[in-house]
Amino acid sequence: MFKIELKKVTRKRAVKEGNNLKEMEVLKGVDLSVQPEEICTILGPSGSGKSTLLRLINRLEEVSSGSIHLDGIDIKELEVLNLRKKVSLVFQVPVMFDGKVEENLRFGLKVSDEKSDEEMEKCLNLVSLDSNFLKRDSQELSIGERQRVSLARTLMHKPEVLLLDEPTSALDPTATLQIEKLIKDLNQELKLTILFITHNLSQAQRLGHRCVILIAGEKVEEGDSQVVLQNPNNPLSQKFIRGELVKEEK
Ligand SMILES: Nc1ncnc2c1ncn2[C@@H]1O[C@H](COP(=O)(O)OP(=O)(O)O)[C@@H](O)[C@H]1O
Ligand SMILES: [Mg+2]
Repeated sequence: MFKIELKKVTRKRAVKEGNNLKEMEVLKGVDLSVQPEEICTILGPSGSGKSTLLRLINRLEEVSSGSIHLDGIDIKELEVLNLRKKVSLVFQVPVMFDGKVEENLRFGLKVSDEKSDEEMEKCLNLVSLDSNFLKRDSQELSIGERQRVSLARTLMHKPEVLLLDEPTSALDPTATLQIEKLIKDLNQELKLTILFITHNLSQAQRLGHRCVILIAGEKVEEGDSQVVLQNPNNPLSQKFIRGELVKEEK
């Protein structure tokens, strides 16, 4: 239910060029505002800085300049673990630990919590898995089921914001549509604010209330998903949407 605001966010990184280290600006003064309970998709070619942007919001990396605010509070003022419980990042490839699904769901929580069984079942239901899954061996799940369990594990922490980094790019088309439906349901039922990275235009169209296009570290387009994807203003985003911009272009 939180609002996220990025103010002139830059991120610089040292990148190897031959034997030299060159400083590269991966994000170049990005302003972005994601409203509470909104699904905002971020589109852009590979290397444009999409994952970096999510990592900054979760403080897996720190901004080089500018600031990020969660409901008006600079995230630098927040304790990192608390921030990560409220603002959860879900990766492209689901990470499962050895053991049963229930052990995966309890990961990082106090095991003694007597309400945990009920909570686990509730979170599994939220991702459309029944409670029989609790006893299943996590290593035997399909990749689509793993992505659901990984989402359920995130929900155990009762986040306010979900950051999803291409969560369906490893999935087949059916599992992809199922996850998209789940994301929409979670947005409605739990009133989560959702930032969803994808390089798939039709996915952005299906999902997003609002869509942002990031190219070579700059926000080049932002607006209602249907409008942006059908009638982009910026020449670079037009090129990207026509499928002529696969890699970053500077
Ligand atoms: N750990 C890293 N070290 C150095 N450069 C990196 C690292 N991760 C990403 N980069 C570079 O930063 C830029 C943005 O990467 P990234 O945010 O992953 O883009 P995207 O998610 O849009 O594909 C790219 O040029 C990439 O090569
Ligand atoms: Mg990425």
